[in-house]
Amino acid sequence: HAAAPTAQSRYAFGELDWGIDETHHVAAGYDAHILLRWGDPVTAGAPEFDVMNQSAEAQLQQFGYNNDYIGFLPLNAEGTRGLLCVNHEYTNEEVMFPGLGRQDKAGFAGMTRELADIEMAAHGGSVVEIARGTDGKWTVVRGSRLNRRISPLNTVMAVSGPAAGHSRLQTSADPSGREIIGTLNNCAGGMTPWGTWLMAEENFHGYFWSDETGTDGEPDASGHPEAPKLRRYGAPGNWYAWGKYHDRFDIRKEPNEVNRFGWVVEVDPLDPFSTPVKHTALGRFAHEGAEATLSADGRLVIYMGDDARFEYLYKYVSNGSVSQDRAANSRLLSDGTLYAARFGPEGTLLWLPLVHGQGPLTAGNGFAGQADVLIDARLAADALGATPMDRPEDVSPRGDGTAFVMLTNNSKRTPGQTDAANPRPGSDFGHIIEIKEDGGDHAATRASWSILVQCGNPAIAAVGAQWNPETSENGWFGSPDNCAFDAEGRLWVATDQGRKWDRTGKSDGLYGLETEGALRGHSKLFFRCPAGAELCGPYFTPDNETLFLAVQHPGTDGTRNLQGFERDSTFEDPATRWPDFNPAMPPRPSVVVVTRQGGGKIAV
Ligand code: FEO
Ligand code: CA
Ligand code: CA
Ligand code: CA
Repeated sequence: HAAAPTAQSRYAFGELDWGIDETHHVAAGYDAHILLRWGDPVTAGAPEFDVMNQSAEAQLQQFGYNNDYIGFLPLNAEGTRGLLCVNHEYTNEEVMFPGLGRQDKAGFAGMTRELADIEMAAHGGSVVEIARGTDGKWTVVRGSRLNRRISPLNTVMAVSGPAAGHSRLQTSADPSGREIIGTLNNCAGGMTPWGTWLMAEENFHGYFWSDETGTDGEPDASGHPEAPKLRRYGAPGNWYAWGKYHDRFDIRKEPNEVNRFGWVVEVDPLDPFSTPVKHTALGRFAHEGAEATLSADGRLVIYMGDDARFEYLYKYVSNGSVSQDRAANSRLLSDGTLYAARFGPEGTLLWLPLVHGQGPLTAGNGFAGQADVLIDARLAADALGATPMDRPEDVSPRGDGTAFVMLTNNSKRTPGQTDAANPRPGSDFGHIIEIKEDGGDHAATRASWSILVQCGNPAIAAVGAQWNPETSENGWFGSPDNCAFDAEGRLWVATDQGRKWDRTGKSDGLYGLETEGALRGHSKLFFRCPAGAELCGPYFTPDNETLFLAVQHPGTDGTRNLQGFERDSTFEDPATRWPDFNPAMPPRPSVVVVTRQGGGKIAV
């Protein structure tokens, strides 16, 4: 262990030891309880979870799979009641359905319409009322009238902004181009200043399907009227068999459906009957998250990563200011400017507007209007010369013109492709960039930037890691993904190493990462996941007494590298049975609630 830091850490907790095993761990003096598990009843009258006899109808009333973003909306002044807004990003069939292995899914041999519909019902989101008892413990308010499930199977959504109703969004089921069924691959997200929930649609390309195979053996889109654009977005990915049973996910049968995903969706959790809205002004790409803040003059600013190798960082700035009028506030999401970031070599940053008619964004270059600029946001940012990044994931703005960008990794960057903002070739561990907007104003079109940390093991010179030298062997991490500020203005970072976890030997976890002063770049481990899980969520309540964490896909990533966990004939080779540890139950993605033993603020 490293010597005690000479400067005072702003994170007052005893650092957890690093490691990896079958369960979760939190720093001493804290409790970490399971609040919600895949399959828990959510809506009034929802059936109990029966994993051996799951149905789409039951799943539509129960907590979905792979909890990712978590938002919390207090319902009373004391903050003892509130709504959790949780994204359900994707599904892991190999540990959901007894007897269905990875190969069955890849080849679709074991799939059925019923299983596909269960998958769809397990995607989307959940709104769940929770309450804190006098003993300080949070519990689910089962059957609350505010509890709601959102899914790609049956939740009707509206469309706002310049691409609403555009011919490229029209389908045979929806000639208006303004009514979309559902949302999918909702990864990170955000809560707006007026208490609505933003669900970011990330890897939508994986859900589109073609039964044609190209000469390279990959799913083929050459017959599609927008084939080059589809390729730029990676569609069809053929990750799921939904297109076999639902024509809209078959790109040959319904060529425009793919243009109706890849957006940011706004949900009003206070009205369980409200229609979610896909806001096209925020652009179409693999949205990791959508964290909102305010400009110096009160306009809405949203930072968004496009999580794919060599994709861009974006922000959206509304034209009007946030007010007390919730309906008017939502309209700010359809009237504003989308920008992509160009990182200069001298630590300067230019925000490039994605505005039709400006610069190269003209009809002559394939952009007939603003709708095309937004539907093809990646192509527009290409034309503007934005900087291709090492997979931009979550971005946390602090409200003072500062924002932190998680760049998770990029194994494909060659030595010839490095630049100042993405300095490492074949980056397995990623880095974090700090942006300081000019004048401390989040709406500025110029900024400066610096690298806060380069991730990975600082003891291995070839890794090229850069941390505050007082960071201990427990504190360094790889592959930053989600991040959050707490009420004390401190940054927390959650990791997602995926199948590369064995390159660090560490489980994924949550770290307090210093951003200021002598300890800038110093990281401390607070929580770690069970094997095969990544950590999502982190969300602190406004009183800083509760931390919500989303443990995603426990028991799956990199299981072949794990020793000492027994294979089971019912569910494919899970690395752990967390959190139930019941041989009749597979591992379940779950929301964990962290509180301080005896009460009080976290890490203060
Ligand atoms: Fe869904 Fe970029 O993680
Ligand atoms: Ca994820
Ligand atoms: Ca993520
Ligand atoms: Ca990730």
